[in-house]
Amino acid sequence: MPIERVVEAEAKETPEEQVLENTLRPQSFKEYIGQERLKTNLGLAIAAAKQRGESLEHVLLYGPPGLGKTTMAGVIAREMGANYRITSGPAIDRPADLASLLTSLQPNDVLFIDEIHRLHRGVEEILYSAMEDFKLDITIGKGPAGRSVRLDLPPFTLIGATTRTGALAGPLRDRFGIVHRLEYYTEPEIARIVDRSSVILGVKLEAVAAELLSTRARLTPRIANRLLKRVRDYADIHNSSVIDAPTVNAALQMLEIDEFGLDAADRAMLLTIHDKYGERPVGLTTIAALTGDEPATIEDYYEPYLMQIGFLERTPRGRKVTERAREHLGFKPDKLKMF
Ligand code: ADE
Repeated sequence: MPIERVVEAEAKETPEEQVLENTLRPQSFKEYIGQERLKTNLGLAIAAAKQRGESLEHVLLYGPPGLGKTTMAGVIAREMGANYRITSGPAIDRPADLASLLTSLQPNDVLFIDEIHRLHRGVEEILYSAMEDFKLDITIGKGPAGRSVRLDLPPFTLIGATTRTGALAGPLRDRFGIVHRLEYYTEPEIARIVDRSSVILGVKLEAVAAELLSTRARLTPRIANRLLKRVRDYADIHNSSVIDAPTVNAALQMLEIDEFGLDAADRAMLLTIHDKYGERPVGLTTIAALTGDEPATIEDYYEPYLMQIGFLERTPRGRKVTERAREHLGFKPDKLKMF
């Protein structure tokens, strides 16, 4: 069984957690910390579209989970002064569902489709002409009596989000005018984000505690905010009115999160690869079989951060645990063998 994870960035939250996450979401570029390059580019495109009185080009946001793709989509809609409709790839079952969504749009509305790589093929094909010409091609009736009709749609902006652009069909990817990868945040940015969140949550967070938290949050705002809430719980139970560095340390120790933000599941995975394969590369499906996770889970959730911090390397022949990871985790078999 995979290990239950606190530091997984996938949005698998309870309704209460979702409400809390929504209250922490920035509403404007001004409030949105980090992703400076994206904000600059989008800010320009939005200002130009508004000046021309047109809808914004379609936007594709990709990158690891938890970095703020949904948040950014909401900010774009607000900055455009447009209505914002939100759905996800797996939620659209049939072409007719998408057709009714598209025909209900008002001019210049923003439609956000999360996990757009999971759209069914038939649904995706409807999007092509909708995105390109603002036309909806539908077939009415079945068999020889069926006929196709072409309906006009209002100009709208589609914002798609995906953790994997590779999984997106070429014709769909090509219809986005603005394609942008969300990057991991820097530690100072994460510290500012938890500081902002602490103000919204009404908790007192010392600057050193925010800095410490920022080193443990896998450079991901969603994880940083989740850790902040767990640390707040810990402080409440221990009657501390202020969250200081020792409180953060104690809470994270309880959650078994180490100084790189790795949890027991990351360490178990690295240890398993190391034990079975040492310094040799190993394939993704083999790792998945060893840990009991889906290959996609490893690819989307474990790996990006482990590669970002140089703990895992992707080679043409598979994944390799790096020397840096070996040092951090305290296994150095080859060095030992030399003596
Ligand atoms: N909360 C979550 N992500 C955020 C961000 N990028 N800026 C400010 N607050 C956030």
